[in-house]
Amino acid sequence: MKRPVLAANWKMNNGPTAAKSFMDTFIEGFRPKTERTVIIFPPAVDLTIVAAATSARTDVFAGIQNIHWAEKGAFTGETSAAMAKDAGARMVLVGHSERRHVFGETDAQCAKKCLAAARVQLPFMLCVGEKIEQREAGETESVVMHQLREGLSLTPNLISTEFMIAYEPVWAIGTGLTASAADASAIHTLLRRELRQMIGTRGNEIPILYGGSVNASNAAGLLAAPEVDGLLVGGASVDAASWLAIAQGDISDEL
Ligand code: PGA
Repeated sequence: MKRPVLAANWKMNNGPTAAKSFMDTFIEGFRPKTERTVIIFPPAVDLTIVAAATSARTDVFAGIQNIHWAEKGAFTGETSAAMAKDAGARMVLVGHSERRHVFGETDAQCAKKCLAAARVQLPFMLCVGEKIEQREAGETESVVMHQLREGLSLTPNLISTEFMIAYEPVWAIGTGLTASAADASAIHTLLRRELRQMIGTRGNEIPILYGGSVNASNAAGLLAAPEVDGLLVGGASVDAASWLAIAQGDISDEL
């Protein structure tokens, strides 16, 4: 029986006032029917609000969308792993497609961020995914495996490090196009195989989430697919009612 992970990535939406009202609505309405974990990744300025709103729950927690790899110093605009943790983050997204493709983040930088998170015992969620031209050129597997291996390459003791993987095909993010459950499952299966090669049977326990235009209508079908352990949701997670429908939605008995 899987314990599905349902993660909301608000991106640059919902400031502190909106975050407070979102959390009031969500926490009030969210009564899990089965065991599942919910993570909310708000903008950094909302972190303390989301963390405070979830403090009485064991099934819902806050994460941060990005960190810098340095511990502290002259890095205007950045947040360290320790600071994020101090503000209530219990997970960090690393290498989200927008970080990679809008802000030019490299695999080497992702590796440093995973290491920085692991150093302060902040679990991380490494995001991988191919662009449409890479998919069309038949390069999906090599791109995604490269991102996985490089992203994890600096973290020592991976076998005892808490982390998750999110597979988010770039062409599916914010476009309304979703990978089919079978396509997502096929890539997740490859990721799982690679994780097993890296860390043995512990690789079976690492949650692998799918992301890319997930909404309340397609969530259950994707979650039911083999090796899909959870969902990372952007656009459909920004509004409390929409997110509640996904987080609270039926999860197949097959899980
Ligand atoms: P989307 O975003 O659900 O809006 O496609 C997913 C993500 O970027 O994590």
